[in-house]
Amino acid sequence: MREVAVFGLGFVGLPLALSLAMRGCRVTGVDVDREHVEAVNAGVTHLHEACDGVGIKEILSRELAAGRFRATTDPAEGMRAGDVIITVGIPVLDGEPEPYPLVSCLEAVAAGLRPGHLVLVRSTLVPGMMRELVLPALEKSGLAAGEEFYLAYAPERIAEGRAFEEFRHMPVLVAGVNRASIERAEKLLRVVTEAEIVRGSSFEAVETAKLVENISRDVNIALVNELARFTRALGVSIFEVVRLANSHKRVQLLQPGPGVGGYCLPNALHYLLPRARELGVAVELLETARRVNRDTPRYVADLVLRQLPVAPAQARVGVLGLAMKDYSNDTRQSPALDVVAHLEQAGVEVRAFDPAVPHAFRFQVESLEAALRGAHGAVILARQDGIDFHDLATFAALMDPAGPFIVDTKNVYGNPGAKHPGLRIVGL
Ligand SMILES: NC(=O)c1ccc[n+]([C@@H]2O[C@H](COP(=O)([O-])OP(=O)(O)OC[C@H]3O[C@@H](n4cnc5c(N)ncnc54)[C@H](O)[C@@H]3O)[C@@H](O)[C@H]2O)c1
Repeated sequence: MREVAVFGLGFVGLPLALSLAMRGCRVTGVDVDREHVEAVNAGVTHLHEACDGVGIKEILSRELAAGRFRATTDPAEGMRAGDVIITVGIPVLDGEPEPYPLVSCLEAVAAGLRPGHLVLVRSTLVPGMMRELVLPALEKSGLAAGEEFYLAYAPERIAEGRAFEEFRHMPVLVAGVNRASIERAEKLLRVVTEAEIVRGSSFEAVETAKLVENISRDVNIALVNELARFTRALGVSIFEVVRLANSHKRVQLLQPGPGVGGYCLPNALHYLLPRARELGVAVELLETARRVNRDTPRYVADLVLRQLPVAPAQARVGVLGLAMKDYSNDTRQSPALDVVAHLEQAGVEVRAFDPAVPHAFRFQVESLEAALRGAHGAVILARQDGIDFHDLATFAALMDPAGPFIVDTKNVYGNPGAKHPGLRIVGL
Protein backbone atom coordinates (compact mmCIF):
# COMPACT_ATOMS: atom_id res chain seq x y z
CA MET A 1 0.00 0.00 0.00
CA ARG A 2 1.43 3.38 -1.08
CA GLU A 3 1.84 5.72 1.90
CA VAL A 4 1.31 9.41 1.22
CA ALA A 5 1.38 12.49 3.46
CA VAL A 6 -0.61 15.58 2.50
CA PHE A 7 0.46 18.77 4.30
CA GLY A 8 -2.40 21.29 4.55
CA LEU A 9 -5.98 20.00 4.78
CA GLY A 10 -7.85 22.95 3.30
CA PHE A 11 -9.97 23.35 0.17
CA VAL A 12 -7.29 21.55 -1.87
CA GLY A 13 -5.55 19.27 0.64
CA LEU A 14 -8.53 17.45 2.15
CA PRO A 15 -10.23 16.36 -1.09
CA LEU A 16 -6.82 15.51 -2.57
CA ALA A 17 -5.96 13.34 0.45
CA LEU A 18 -9.35 11.60 0.16
CA SER A 19 -8.93 11.09 -3.60
CA LEU A 20 -5.67 9.24 -2.89
CA ALA A 21 -7.24 7.24 -0.05
CA MET A 22 -10.19 6.25 -2.26
CA ARG A 23 -7.67 4.72 -4.67
CA GLY A 24 -6.11 2.59 -1.97
CA CYS A 25 -3.29 4.78 -0.60
CA ARG A 26 -2.77 5.07 3.13
CA VAL A 27 -2.88 8.84 3.62
CA THR A 28 -1.81 10.95 6.57
CA GLY A 29 -3.10 14.51 6.46
CA VAL A 30 -1.00 17.02 8.41
CA ASP A 31 -2.35 20.42 9.43
CA VAL A 32 -1.30 22.96 12.07
CA ASP A 33 -4.91 23.75 12.99
CA ARG A 34 -5.65 21.40 15.90
CA GLU A 35 -9.40 22.08 15.96
CA HIS A 36 -9.63 21.40 12.25
CA VAL A 37 -7.66 18.15 12.59
CA GLU A 38 -9.94 16.99 15.41
CA ALA A 39 -13.04 17.87 13.36
CA VAL A 40 -11.71 16.03 10.29
CA ASN A 41 -10.88 12.94 12.39
CA ALA A 42 -14.45 13.10 13.71
CA GLY A 43 -15.74 13.09 10.11
CA VAL A 44 -16.65 16.79 10.05
CA THR A 45 -15.90 19.12 7.13
CA HIS A 46 -17.59 22.27 5.86
CA LEU A 47 -16.38 21.73 2.30
CA HIS A 48 -18.98 21.51 -0.48
CA GLU A 49 -17.55 18.71 -2.58
CA ALA A 50 -18.89 15.45 -3.94
CA CYS A 51 -17.53 12.57 -5.98
CA ASP A 52 -19.94 10.79 -8.32
CA GLY A 53 -22.87 12.03 -6.24
CA VAL A 54 -21.36 10.99 -2.89
CA GLY A 55 -20.77 13.93 -0.53
CA ILE A 56 -17.34 14.63 0.94
CA LYS A 57 -18.58 13.96 4.49
CA GLU A 58 -19.58 10.44 3.55
CA ILE A 59 -16.30 9.89 1.73
CA LEU A 60 -14.37 11.19 4.74
CA SER A 61 -16.24 8.89 7.15
CA ARG A 62 -15.70 5.92 4.84
CA GLU A 63 -11.97 6.52 4.46
CA LEU A 64 -11.51 7.11 8.20
CA ALA A 65 -13.38 3.88 8.98
CA ALA A 66 -11.35 1.94 6.42
CA GLY A 67 -8.13 3.21 8.05
CA ARG A 68 -6.93 4.69 4.76
CA PHE A 69 -7.01 8.30 5.99
CA ARG A 70 -6.17 10.03 9.23
CA ALA A 71 -5.36 13.63 10.12
CA THR A 72 -2.69 14.74 12.57
CA THR A 73 -0.92 17.87 13.76
CA ASP A 74 2.36 15.95 14.06
CA PRO A 75 4.49 16.38 10.92
CA ALA A 76 6.76 13.51 12.01
CA GLU A 77 3.81 11.12 11.59
CA GLY A 78 3.33 12.37 8.05
CA MET A 79 7.01 12.02 7.23
CA ARG A 80 6.81 8.24 7.73
CA ALA A 81 5.20 8.16 4.29
CA GLY A 82 7.45 7.91 1.24
CA ASP A 83 5.53 10.49 -0.78
CA VAL A 84 4.94 13.96 0.62
CA ILE A 85 2.54 16.43 -0.97
CA ILE A 86 2.49 20.08 0.11
CA THR A 87 -0.73 22.12 -0.34
CA VAL A 88 0.04 24.91 2.16
CA GLY A 89 -0.53 28.28 0.51
CA ILE A 90 0.94 31.77 0.63
CA PRO A 91 -1.55 34.34 1.89
CA VAL A 92 -1.41 37.91 0.55
CA LEU A 93 -1.27 40.53 3.29
CA ASP A 94 -1.59 44.21 2.31
CA GLY A 95 -0.82 43.27 -1.28
CA GLU A 96 2.37 41.34 -0.42
CA PRO A 97 2.80 37.54 -0.46
CA GLU A 98 3.48 36.19 3.04
CA PRO A 99 5.34 32.89 2.69
CA TYR A 100 5.45 32.13 6.45
CA PRO A 101 2.93 29.21 6.42
CA LEU A 102 4.78 27.54 3.54
CA VAL A 103 8.19 28.19 5.12
CA SER A 104 7.11 26.67 8.44
CA CYS A 105 5.68 23.67 6.57
CA LEU A 106 8.97 23.22 4.68
CA GLU A 107 10.91 23.31 7.98
CA ALA A 108 8.70 20.53 9.33
CA VAL A 109 9.14 18.49 6.14
CA ALA A 110 12.93 19.05 6.12
CA ALA A 111 13.13 17.85 9.73
CA GLY A 112 11.67 14.48 8.74
CA LEU A 113 13.18 14.12 5.26
CA ARG A 114 14.88 10.79 4.50
CA PRO A 115 16.73 9.51 1.44
CA GLY A 116 14.28 8.39 -1.25
CA HIS A 117 11.45 10.73 -0.21
CA LEU A 118 9.44 12.51 -2.89
CA VAL A 119 8.33 16.07 -2.07
CA LEU A 120 5.65 17.26 -4.49
CA VAL A 121 4.58 20.88 -4.05
CA ARG A 122 1.03 21.71 -5.26
CA SER A 123 0.70 25.24 -3.84
CA THR A 124 0.60 28.33 -6.04
CA LEU A 125 3.99 30.07 -5.81
CA VAL A 126 5.80 33.27 -6.70
CA PRO A 127 7.85 32.47 -9.83
CA GLY A 128 11.32 31.42 -8.68
CA MET A 129 10.23 30.11 -5.28
CA MET A 130 10.76 26.42 -6.00
CA ARG A 131 14.44 27.05 -6.73
CA GLU A 132 15.10 29.90 -4.31
CA LEU A 133 12.94 29.03 -1.31
CA VAL A 134 11.61 25.45 -1.42
CA LEU A 135 14.78 23.69 -2.57
CA PRO A 136 17.20 25.36 -0.08
CA ALA A 137 14.68 24.97 2.77
CA LEU A 138 14.47 21.21 2.12
CA GLU A 139 18.24 20.86 1.63
CA LYS A 140 18.70 22.15 5.19
CA SER A 141 17.95 18.49 5.97
CA GLY A 142 21.49 17.75 4.72
CA LEU A 143 20.07 15.81 1.75
CA ALA A 144 20.60 16.91 -1.86
CA ALA A 145 17.55 17.48 -4.06
CA GLY A 146 17.51 15.21 -7.10
CA GLU A 147 20.27 13.01 -5.65
CA GLU A 148 19.03 11.95 -2.25
CA PHE A 149 15.40 13.03 -2.41
CA TYR A 150 13.05 13.78 -5.30
CA LEU A 151 11.60 17.26 -5.69
CA ALA A 152 8.79 18.23 -8.08
CA TYR A 153 6.17 20.90 -8.62
CA ALA A 154 2.64 20.35 -9.94
CA PRO A 155 0.46 23.39 -9.19
CA GLU A 156 -3.13 22.59 -8.34
CA ARG A 157 -5.72 23.78 -10.89
CA ILE A 158 -9.02 22.62 -9.43
CA ALA A 159 -12.08 24.80 -8.93
CA GLU A 160 -13.71 24.57 -5.52
CA GLY A 161 -16.90 22.55 -5.72
CA ARG A 162 -15.50 20.36 -8.49
CA ALA A 163 -12.35 19.14 -6.73
CA PHE A 164 -12.82 15.35 -7.00
CA GLU A 165 -13.80 15.50 -10.65
CA GLU A 166 -10.99 17.90 -11.59
CA PHE A 167 -8.27 15.98 -9.74
CA ARG A 168 -9.22 13.23 -12.13
CA HIS A 169 -9.85 15.04 -15.40
CA MET A 170 -7.96 18.36 -15.37
CA PRO A 171 -4.58 18.13 -17.14
CA VAL A 172 -1.68 18.58 -14.71
CA LEU A 173 1.51 20.59 -15.21
CA VAL A 174 4.69 19.18 -13.73
CA ALA A 175 8.33 20.20 -13.40
CA GLY A 176 11.11 18.67 -11.35
CA VAL A 177 14.63 19.28 -10.16
CA ASN A 178 15.64 16.42 -12.49
CA ARG A 179 14.05 13.83 -14.77
CA ALA A 180 13.90 11.20 -12.02
CA SER A 181 11.91 13.62 -9.84
CA ILE A 182 9.44 14.28 -12.66
CA GLU A 183 9.00 10.57 -13.28
CA ARG A 184 8.48 9.83 -9.60
CA ALA A 185 5.96 12.71 -9.33
CA GLU A 186 4.10 11.47 -12.42
CA LYS A 187 3.68 8.03 -10.81
CA LEU A 188 2.10 9.62 -7.77
CA LEU A 189 -0.09 11.97 -9.84
CA ARG A 190 -1.25 8.99 -11.93
CA VAL A 191 -2.83 7.42 -8.85
CA VAL A 192 -5.60 10.01 -9.20
CA THR A 193 -5.40 11.71 -12.56
CA GLU A 194 -6.61 10.20 -15.82
CA ALA A 195 -5.83 13.41 -17.70
CA GLU A 196 -2.73 14.46 -19.60
CA ILE A 197 0.33 15.27 -17.50
CA VAL A 198 2.15 18.10 -19.26
CA ARG A 199 5.85 18.48 -18.54
CA GLY A 200 7.35 21.97 -18.22
CA SER A 201 11.05 22.51 -18.89
CA SER A 202 11.67 24.32 -15.59
CA PHE A 203 10.10 25.15 -12.27
CA GLU A 204 9.89 28.78 -13.36
CA ALA A 205 7.91 27.97 -16.54
CA VAL A 206 5.35 25.95 -14.60
CA GLU A 207 5.14 28.42 -11.70
CA THR A 208 4.49 31.23 -14.19
CA ALA A 209 1.99 29.24 -16.25
CA LYS A 210 -0.09 28.62 -13.12
CA LEU A 211 -0.13 32.34 -12.31
CA VAL A 212 -0.95 33.27 -15.90
CA GLU A 213 -3.96 30.95 -15.84
CA ASN A 214 -5.38 32.77 -12.84
CA ILE A 215 -4.39 36.22 -14.06
CA SER A 216 -5.96 35.62 -17.47
CA ARG A 217 -9.29 34.90 -15.78
CA ASP A 218 -8.92 38.00 -13.61
CA VAL A 219 -8.18 40.16 -16.68
CA ASN A 220 -10.99 38.64 -18.74
CA ILE A 221 -13.52 39.15 -15.96
CA ALA A 222 -12.30 42.76 -15.60
CA LEU A 223 -12.90 43.22 -19.33
CA VAL A 224 -16.60 42.34 -19.06
CA ASN A 225 -17.01 44.10 -15.72
CA GLU A 226 -15.70 47.29 -17.29
CA LEU A 227 -17.83 46.80 -20.41
CA ALA A 228 -20.87 46.36 -18.12
CA ARG A 229 -20.47 50.01 -17.06
CA PHE A 230 -20.59 51.06 -20.71
CA THR A 231 -23.55 48.85 -21.66
CA ARG A 232 -25.53 50.01 -18.60
CA ALA A 233 -25.00 53.66 -19.61
CA LEU A 234 -26.04 52.75 -23.16
CA GLY A 235 -29.14 50.96 -21.93
CA VAL A 236 -28.40 47.43 -23.10
CA SER A 237 -27.72 44.29 -21.07
CA ILE A 238 -24.08 43.22 -20.71
CA PHE A 239 -25.27 39.61 -20.45
CA GLU A 240 -27.01 39.88 -23.80
CA VAL A 241 -23.97 41.58 -25.35
CA VAL A 242 -21.71 38.77 -24.07
CA ARG A 243 -24.08 36.12 -25.41
CA LEU A 244 -24.24 37.79 -28.80
CA ALA A 245 -20.50 38.42 -29.05
CA ASN A 246 -19.74 34.84 -28.01
CA SER A 247 -21.57 33.53 -31.07
CA HIS A 248 -18.39 34.56 -32.92
CA LYS A 249 -16.21 31.46 -33.23
CA ARG A 250 -13.07 33.20 -31.96
CA VAL A 251 -14.58 35.21 -29.09
CA GLN A 252 -14.98 33.75 -25.61
CA LEU A 253 -15.97 36.47 -23.18
CA LEU A 254 -16.50 35.45 -19.55
CA GLN A 255 -19.51 36.43 -17.47
CA PRO A 256 -19.51 39.70 -15.51
CA GLY A 257 -20.50 39.78 -11.85
CA PRO A 258 -20.07 41.61 -8.55
CA GLY A 259 -16.26 41.27 -8.58
CA VAL A 260 -13.65 38.54 -8.19
CA GLY A 261 -12.94 36.74 -4.93
CA GLY A 262 -11.52 33.59 -3.38
CA TYR A 263 -7.94 32.61 -2.70
CA CYS A 264 -6.67 32.14 -6.22
CA LEU A 265 -7.62 34.84 -8.74
CA PRO A 266 -7.16 37.99 -6.64
CA ASN A 267 -3.85 36.72 -5.22
CA ALA A 268 -2.26 35.76 -8.55
CA LEU A 269 -1.21 39.27 -9.56
CA HIS A 270 0.30 39.81 -6.10
CA TYR A 271 2.48 36.74 -6.63
CA LEU A 272 3.65 38.08 -9.99
CA LEU A 273 4.25 41.71 -8.97
CA PRO A 274 7.28 41.27 -6.71
CA ARG A 275 9.07 39.43 -9.52
CA ALA A 276 7.95 41.96 -12.17
CA ARG A 277 9.27 44.81 -10.01
CA GLU A 278 12.61 43.06 -9.47
CA LEU A 279 12.92 42.49 -13.22
CA GLY A 280 11.88 46.08 -14.01
CA VAL A 281 8.88 44.97 -16.09
CA ALA A 282 5.66 47.03 -16.13
CA VAL A 283 2.42 45.03 -16.03
CA GLU A 284 -0.03 47.91 -16.32
CA LEU A 285 -2.83 46.00 -18.02
CA LEU A 286 -2.80 43.37 -15.28
CA GLU A 287 -2.77 45.98 -12.52
CA THR A 288 -5.61 47.91 -14.15
CA ALA A 289 -7.66 44.73 -14.47
CA ARG A 290 -7.14 43.95 -10.78
CA ARG A 291 -8.23 47.49 -9.91
CA VAL A 292 -11.38 47.19 -12.05
CA ASN A 293 -12.34 43.95 -10.33
CA ARG A 294 -11.49 45.35 -6.89
CA ASP A 295 -13.68 48.41 -7.58
CA THR A 296 -16.62 46.42 -8.93
CA PRO A 297 -18.26 45.82 -5.51
CA ARG A 298 -18.33 49.61 -5.01
CA TYR A 299 -19.95 49.99 -8.45
CA VAL A 300 -22.57 47.38 -7.49
CA ALA A 301 -23.22 49.04 -4.13
CA ASP A 302 -23.65 52.42 -5.87
CA LEU A 303 -26.11 50.81 -8.30
CA VAL A 304 -28.13 49.53 -5.32
CA LEU A 305 -27.98 52.91 -3.57
CA ARG A 306 -29.28 54.67 -6.69
CA GLN A 307 -32.42 52.48 -6.69
CA LEU A 308 -33.41 53.19 -3.08
CA PRO A 309 -36.77 54.93 -2.66
CA VAL A 310 -35.62 56.36 0.70
CA ALA A 311 -32.38 57.86 2.07
CA PRO A 312 -29.68 55.20 2.70
CA ALA A 313 -29.83 55.80 6.45
CA GLN A 314 -33.52 54.80 6.41
CA ALA A 315 -33.04 51.91 3.99
CA ARG A 316 -32.87 48.18 4.43
CA VAL A 317 -31.37 45.91 1.76
CA GLY A 318 -31.44 42.13 1.55
CA VAL A 319 -28.19 40.65 0.25
CA LEU A 320 -28.58 37.23 -1.35
CA GLY A 321 -25.40 35.16 -1.59
CA LEU A 322 -22.21 35.94 0.34
CA ALA A 323 -19.90 33.32 -1.17
CA MET A 324 -17.09 34.38 -3.47
CA LYS A 325 -18.77 32.57 -6.37
CA ASP A 326 -21.95 30.66 -7.19
CA TYR A 327 -22.70 27.52 -5.16
CA SER A 328 -19.55 27.96 -3.02
CA ASN A 329 -19.31 28.29 0.76
CA ASP A 330 -15.97 30.12 0.54
CA THR A 331 -16.09 33.78 1.59
CA ARG A 332 -12.35 34.45 1.37
CA GLN A 333 -11.97 37.87 -0.28
CA SER A 334 -15.59 37.59 -1.40
CA PRO A 335 -16.76 40.65 -3.36
CA ALA A 336 -20.14 40.23 -1.63
CA LEU A 337 -18.51 41.21 1.68
CA ASP A 338 -17.20 44.38 0.02
CA VAL A 339 -20.65 45.20 -1.37
CA VAL A 340 -22.05 44.82 2.17
CA ALA A 341 -19.28 47.04 3.58
CA HIS A 342 -20.03 49.82 1.04
CA LEU A 343 -23.77 49.64 1.71
CA GLU A 344 -23.23 49.78 5.46
CA GLN A 345 -20.82 52.69 5.09
CA ALA A 346 -23.60 54.56 3.31
CA GLY A 347 -25.86 53.91 6.32
CA VAL A 348 -27.96 51.06 4.90
CA GLU A 349 -29.13 48.26 7.19
CA VAL A 350 -28.05 45.01 5.53
CA ARG A 351 -29.50 41.56 6.13
CA ALA A 352 -27.67 38.90 4.20
CA PHE A 353 -28.73 35.34 3.51
CA ASP A 354 -26.52 32.57 2.18
CA PRO A 355 -27.55 29.03 3.06
CA ALA A 356 -24.13 27.61 2.10
CA VAL A 357 -22.03 29.93 4.25
CA PRO A 358 -21.69 28.99 7.93
CA HIS A 359 -23.17 31.73 10.14
CA ALA A 360 -20.16 33.96 10.60
CA PHE A 361 -21.16 37.56 9.99
CA ARG A 362 -23.03 40.08 12.14
CA PHE A 363 -25.34 41.01 9.25
CA GLN A 364 -26.13 37.39 8.32
CA VAL A 365 -29.65 36.04 8.85
CA GLU A 366 -30.99 32.49 8.81
CA SER A 367 -33.62 32.66 6.08
CA LEU A 368 -34.59 34.32 2.83
CA GLU A 369 -37.64 35.64 4.61
CA ALA A 370 -35.52 37.35 7.29
CA ALA A 371 -33.34 38.95 4.60
CA LEU A 372 -36.28 40.27 2.58
CA ARG A 373 -38.88 41.23 5.20
CA GLY A 374 -39.33 45.01 5.02
CA ALA A 375 -36.37 45.42 2.64
CA HIS A 376 -36.49 48.30 0.18
CA GLY A 377 -34.38 46.33 -2.23
CA ALA A 378 -32.42 43.12 -2.70
CA VAL A 379 -29.14 42.41 -4.45
CA ILE A 380 -28.18 38.99 -5.81
CA LEU A 381 -24.43 38.40 -5.44
CA ALA A 382 -24.13 34.59 -5.67
CA ARG A 383 -26.45 31.81 -6.77
CA GLN A 384 -27.09 29.17 -4.12
CA ASP A 385 -29.21 26.06 -3.87
CA GLY A 386 -31.72 26.84 -1.15
CA ILE A 387 -32.67 30.27 -2.49
CA ASP A 388 -35.66 30.22 -4.80
CA PHE A 389 -34.89 33.36 -6.77
CA HIS A 390 -37.83 32.75 -9.08
CA ASP A 391 -40.53 32.90 -6.41
CA LEU A 392 -41.00 36.61 -7.12
CA ALA A 393 -44.45 36.66 -5.53
CA THR A 394 -42.81 35.89 -2.17
CA PHE A 395 -40.14 38.53 -2.79
CA ALA A 396 -42.81 41.14 -3.51
CA ALA A 397 -44.97 40.09 -0.54
CA LEU A 398 -42.07 40.37 1.92
CA MET A 399 -40.39 43.54 0.69
CA ASP A 400 -41.36 47.11 1.50
CA PRO A 401 -44.14 48.08 -0.90
CA ALA A 402 -42.54 51.47 -1.74
CA GLY A 403 -40.86 50.63 -5.06
CA PRO A 404 -39.05 47.38 -4.21
CA PHE A 405 -36.26 46.30 -6.56
CA ILE A 406 -33.80 43.46 -7.13
CA VAL A 407 -30.31 44.21 -8.46
CA ASP A 408 -29.37 41.04 -10.33
CA THR A 409 -25.57 40.85 -10.78
CA LYS A 410 -25.79 37.20 -11.84
CA ASN A 411 -28.33 37.32 -14.63
CA VAL A 412 -30.53 34.95 -12.62
CA TYR A 413 -33.59 36.36 -14.39
CA GLY A 414 -32.10 36.29 -17.89
CA ASN A 415 -32.67 38.83 -20.60
CA PRO A 416 -35.27 40.30 -21.21
CA GLY A 417 -35.93 38.62 -17.87
CA ALA A 418 -38.63 37.64 -15.43
CA LYS A 419 -41.23 40.19 -14.41
CA HIS A 420 -43.52 40.66 -11.44
CA PRO A 421 -45.97 43.49 -10.89
CA GLY A 422 -44.58 46.20 -8.64
CA LEU A 423 -41.07 44.67 -8.52
CA ARG A 424 -38.26 46.23 -10.53
CA ILE A 425 -35.44 43.98 -11.72
CA VAL A 426 -32.22 45.85 -12.43
CA GLY A 427 -29.39 44.17 -14.35
CA LEU A 428 -25.68 44.92 -13.98
N1 LIG B 1 -8.86 26.81 -3.18
C1 LIG B 1 -8.70 26.48 -4.45
O1 LIG B 1 -9.68 26.26 -5.18
C2 LIG B 1 -7.33 26.32 -5.07
C3 LIG B 1 -7.24 25.93 -6.40
C4 LIG B 1 -5.99 25.77 -6.98
C5 LIG B 1 -4.85 26.03 -6.21
N2 LIG B 1 -4.94 26.44 -4.92
C6 LIG B 1 -3.73 26.67 -4.17
O2 LIG B 1 -3.57 25.58 -3.26
C7 LIG B 1 -2.99 26.03 -2.04
C8 LIG B 1 -3.92 25.72 -0.87
O3 LIG B 1 -5.13 26.43 -1.03
P1 LIG B 1 -6.39 26.13 -0.11
O4 LIG B 1 -7.53 26.89 -0.69
O5 LIG B 1 -6.50 24.67 0.12
O6 LIG B 1 -5.91 26.83 1.26
P2 LIG B 1 -6.54 26.62 2.70
O7 LIG B 1 -6.21 27.85 3.48
O8 LIG B 1 -7.95 26.16 2.58
O9 LIG B 1 -5.71 25.40 3.29
C9 LIG B 1 -4.40 25.49 3.73
C10 LIG B 1 -4.28 24.63 4.97
O10 LIG B 1 -2.91 24.60 5.35
C11 LIG B 1 -2.84 24.60 6.75
N3 LIG B 1 -1.50 24.99 7.17
C12 LIG B 1 -0.97 26.23 7.34
N4 LIG B 1 0.32 26.14 7.71
C13 LIG B 1 0.62 24.82 7.75
C14 LIG B 1 1.79 24.08 8.07
N5 LIG B 1 2.92 24.71 8.41
N6 LIG B 1 1.74 22.73 8.04
C15 LIG B 1 0.59 22.09 7.71
N7 LIG B 1 -0.55 22.73 7.40
C16 LIG B 1 -0.53 24.07 7.42
C17 LIG B 1 -3.95 25.55 7.17
O11 LIG B 1 -4.31 25.33 8.53
C18 LIG B 1 -5.05 25.19 6.17
O12 LIG B 1 -5.90 24.17 6.68
C19 LIG B 1 -2.74 27.54 -2.24
O13 LIG B 1 -1.42 27.69 -2.70
C20 LIG B 1 -3.73 27.93 -3.30
O14 LIG B 1 -3.30 29.05 -4.01
C21 LIG B 1 -6.18 26.58 -4.32
